[in-house]
Amino acid sequence: MVDFQATVSKKSNRKELGVTTLVVGASGATGRLLVEQLLERGQYVKIIVRSTANLPVIVMSHDNLSVIDASLLDLSDNEMAQHVSGCVALVSCLGHRLSVKGIFGSPRLLVVDATRRLCNAVKANKPKELVKFVLMNTAGNSNRDLNEHISFAQRVVIGLFRLLLPPHVDNQNAADYQRTQIGQNDESIEWTVVRPDNLINETETTEFAVHPSPIRSAIFDAGVTSRINVGCFMADLISDDTTWNEWKGKMPVIYNKKTRNSIRRKQVEFSFLTSST
Ligand SMILES: NC(=O)c1ccc[n+]([C@@H]2O[C@H](COP(=O)([O-])OP(=O)(O)OC[C@H]3O[C@@H](n4cnc5c(N)ncnc54)[C@H](OP(=O)(O)O)[C@@H]3O)[C@@H](O)[C@H]2O)c1
Repeated sequence: MVDFQATVSKKSNRKELGVTTLVVGASGATGRLLVEQLLERGQYVKIIVRSTANLPVIVMSHDNLSVIDASLLDLSDNEMAQHVSGCVALVSCLGHRLSVKGIFGSPRLLVVDATRRLCNAVKANKPKELVKFVLMNTAGNSNRDLNEHISFAQRVVIGLFRLLLPPHVDNQNAADYQRTQIGQNDESIEWTVVRPDNLINETETTEFAVHPSPIRSAIFDAGVTSRINVGCFMADLISDDTTWNEWKGKMPVIYNKKTRNSIRRKQVEFSFLTSST
């Protein structure tokens, strides 16, 4: 039997890998798919996770994976700077767990605090090359750099979410941090904020479309996005310069091209509430 803990500690004690992407939220439903896709593309990947229990053996046993066994926000600034050092890209797939504690408990500002602290860590290292930062967000959040049309009814509902659902505010603030604090001309960081609509689980990638702004209401006419397609698009952003150059400094919205009704009926999760959490 494989001793999981031993594997983890051996990996995290290993000497630094080559050109590396750091993924946080890698144990989540989307994060682990992204990690798998980056590894499949021959990339080196470093993850910071509280637990490896949800990660498939094929990922955990991969030679190009390095695991830091820690709760991200418990790391000191120095530790964070060490972990991001040498990474050419960072991806956050963090999200509040869908439990009362996850939604209303601490840390309420998980995503924005992680984003801000990781960006500070990158800047502290004064990297020679620009570092990519990909932030997973939601189509329920608008890009206020653009004049995105939002109906009055949707504004009211989003306003209620802001009041009642801390994770929504957290996601909005994290995207706003990239947009307004890092901006378009930072000397260390370039960013993109990826906005899926209702997330569903599928086992294979399918055709997907990426738009600069939502093409439908995330509240009243939500689309569907497979987590595996989000992982694929984020891996494209990391590994393909053309895709990166097209979307850097923007907040692309990703939808599956086709949604079979059967999948939609069975798999659309929390269709009204969580599209914006
Ligand atoms: N549900 C939807 O339809 C929908 C639609 C659009 C966008 N989104 C957004 O998409 C993002 C990812 O969604 P997902 O379903 O892939 O997420 P998920 O499966 O819930 O994964 C969340 C990740 O965040 C980590 N995390 C949670 N609390 C943490 C904490 N206090 N400290 C460190 N790590 C923590 C989890 O780690 P552990 O494994 O250790 O808990 C996990 O790796 C979220 O921001 C969500 O709001 C969701």
